[in-house]
Amino acid sequence: MIDPSKIKRIAINTGGGDAPGLNPVIRAATLSALDKGWEVVGIRDGFNGVLEPSLYSEDRPGHFLLDRKAVRGITHLGGTILGTTNRGNPLAYPVTRDDGEIELVDRCPVLVEELRKLKVDALLAIGGDGSMKIAQRISELGMPVIGIPKTIDNDLKHTVATFGFDTAVTFACDAVDRLHSTAHSHGRTMVVEVMGRYAGWIALHAGIAGTADVILLPEIPYDIDKVLEKVQQRYDRGLGFCIVVVAEGAKPKGGHHSVIGKIVGQAERLGGAGEMVARAISDQLGVETRCTVLGHLQRGGSPTSYDRLLSLRFGSAAVRTLAEGIANVMVVLDPPEVKHVGLDEVIDNMKLVPLDCDTVKTARDLGVCLGD
Ligand code: F6P
Repeated sequence: MIDPSKIKRIAINTGGGDAPGLNPVIRAATLSALDKGWEVVGIRDGFNGVLEPSLYSEDRPGHFLLDRKAVRGITHLGGTILGTTNRGNPLAYPVTRDDGEIELVDRCPVLVEELRKLKVDALLAIGGDGSMKIAQRISELGMPVIGIPKTIDNDLKHTVATFGFDTAVTFACDAVDRLHSTAHSHGRTMVVEVMGRYAGWIALHAGIAGTADVILLPEIPYDIDKVLEKVQQRYDRGLGFCIVVVAEGAKPKGGHHSVIGKIVGQAERLGGAGEMVARAISDQLGVETRCTVLGHLQRGGSPTSYDRLLSLRFGSAAVRTLAEGIANVMVVLDPPEVKHVGLDEVIDNMKLVPLDCDTVKTARDLGVCLGD
C-alpha cells in the first residue's frame, strides 16, 4: 500500500507500438487526476522524453504538464498525443561500447532518478507486455506504478480485452468483407494476413465475423494439405472463390514463424506468413491467388466506441486505484468491472487463444478450416 495523500504529481507515458485508444486513456487519467488536485506530467515517446533530453527542445519538450486544454477533443483520435516508440527499452537499452559492440544496459535506475527530480510521485504506464516488464522494474525501484493494458494483439493475461483490439478486429473484418466481393468477381482465393504477433485473437475474431473459409492461428500449427483440401473443396462445390485469414504468427507444422528481421534490443518483426500460404495455394492448386497484408492499417485511425469506452474506463480506474493507496498493479477488464492484478502476475505470461474455447468451437461448427 502507498499513502495517497503524498501524491501531488503523477506522470503518464505511452510505450511500444501504438493502438487506437491511447488518447482516451490519457484524457480520462488526466481529468481524473486533476480532479483529485494532482498535477500530471506527460512524457514524450515512451521514456525518451526523460532519458534522452538532447532529442528535445523548448518548442518540443520531452515532458510537459498536461492540463484540461491539452486533453480536450482527443477521445476519438487514433495514435497518441504523447508519441511512442518501441526502441530504447530502458530495461535493455542499446549502448555502443568503445569496441563497437552493442551492449544492452538497464537504465531504469536512471529513469526513476530523473522522474524523482521532476517531483513525480507515481507513474501511469500505458503499454503492452514489454511496457509492463519495465513498469514492474520501475516499481521494484520504489516508484509506484499502475499499468494500463494496451495492444491490438489482445495477448495480455488477466484482462478480457486490451484496448485497440476491437478497432483492429473491426478494421480486419471490414477488409475481409471487401475482399469477398472482389474474390467472387474474379473467382480468386484471397489470403489476408493480419497482425497479432504470437497470438491469433485478431485472426480468429475477424476471420469468423468476416466468414472466412480458412483461419490460421499461431496456436494451431497448420498442415498445408488440410488448407489445400478446403480450398479445392470450395472450387469443386462450384463456389468459385475462397477467403483465407492468416495470423502473422501462423506457422506450418514442424516449422517456424515467418520473420522479416531482428534488430538488437527490439522484438523480432514478423511477416510473410500470408504470402507463404498464398504461394502454396497458387502453385499446388493452380488457383489464382492474391495476398493482402493489412499491417499497420489495423493500428491506425479512430478507436471504435467499444475501445473508447474501455480506454476511458481504464484511465479513470488507474487514477482511482492509486487514490485508494494501491500500486504496482495493472488495471484489467473483468466484466462487469474494471479491477486490477499485480504486475508480477501479468509479465511473461502471454494470453494465447485457448484451443477449447467456444470461439474456436464456433469456427469448427461453422465448417471453417483451422489447418488441423
Ligand atoms: O504488438 C502490436 C503489433 O502491431 C503486432 O501485432 C506487430 O507484430 C507489431 O506490433 C509490429 O510492430 P512495429 O511497430 O515494430 O512494426
